[in-house]
Amino acid sequence: MALIKWRDSYSVGVDKFDQEHMVLVELINEMFIIVRDKGEVSTLADAVEKLVDYTRVHFADEEEDLEKVNYPHLEEHKEIHADLLEQVLRFQARMDKEGEEMRTDLYKFLRDWLINHILDEDMKYSEYFKEDLEGVAAVSA
Ligand SMILES: [Fe+2]
Repeated sequence: MALIKWRDSYSVGVDKFDQEHMVLVELINEMFIIVRDKGEVSTLADAVEKLVDYTRVHFADEEEDLEKVNYPHLEEHKEIHADLLEQVLRFQARMDKEGEEMRTDLYKFLRDWLINHILDEDMKYSEYFKEDLEGVAAVSA
C-alpha cells in the first residue's frame, strides 16, 4: 500500500474536474496516512466524513456540467454516482461498528473506488468537453 500519486493519464481533459479529482486523491491520501500511522478511529472517521462531503460536491458539479454539454449518458452517470456514494456510506457505517479491523479494507476500497471512478466512468465524458480539451491538448503537446 502506498500513497496515490497523481498521473497525467488520470486527466479527463477538463481542468475543473482534474482539480476536483486531485482533491479527492489528497483526501484519500490523508486517510492512508491515518491508517498507516494507526491514528485514532475518530480521526479516521473525520477524514472519511470530509471525503464523503467533498464527493457529494464533486458529483453535483459533474452532473451540473454534464447536463450543460448534453452528455447523453447523464442518467447512467448519475446512477453510478449514487451507487458509489452508497458504497462509501456503507463503509462509513461499518467503520462505526467494526472500528480498527476494517481500516486497511477501507483504504483499499476507496483507492480502487476513486481510480475506477475516474478512469472508467469519467473518461467517457471527456470528449463532450471538446473546447476545454483543445486548451489542454495545446498545453500538453
Ligand atoms: Fe469524477
